[in-house]
Amino acid sequence: MISRRNVFRKMKWIILAFLGYAGYRTSHRTMSTEKATQYRITGHLAEGISFYGPVILQKNGSHIRFFSSSCTHLGCQITEENNRKLVCPCHGSEFSTDGEILKGPAGKPLRELTFSYHREKDEYIVHLSS
Ligand code: FES
Repeated sequence: MISRRNVFRKMKWIILAFLGYAGYRTSHRTMSTEKATQYRITGHLAEGISFYGPVILQKNGSHIRFFSSSCTHLGCQITEENNRKLVCPCHGSEFSTDGEILKGPAGKPLRELTFSYHREKDEYIVHLSS
């Protein structure tokens, strides 16, 4: 016969295991849905087109623009310029260095991103969700 005391002991472990699992699920979900909202670039920016992971920089003198490097077709990352065209490696869409579509299958221009400049740190903060 199982004593009431043993039942409570077993229930305690079942409850603790459940709470531990629930805590793991919650923290795991939080971590996996976190998305970077900013990209920071510090120091000298080169003239022309430069690739910084999720960001494409277009610099012409003091005129600076940032674009998302995520292709507007299916989201592949654009990482190269070829004859003044930004070329998607997945299905060959081409964009001008201003982000306009030159060749599909992408149907929208590259998304231009807003940014701020912090002079004291010589740092550009690009807003990825803009
Ligand atoms: S994801 Fe870029 S062309 Fe398809």
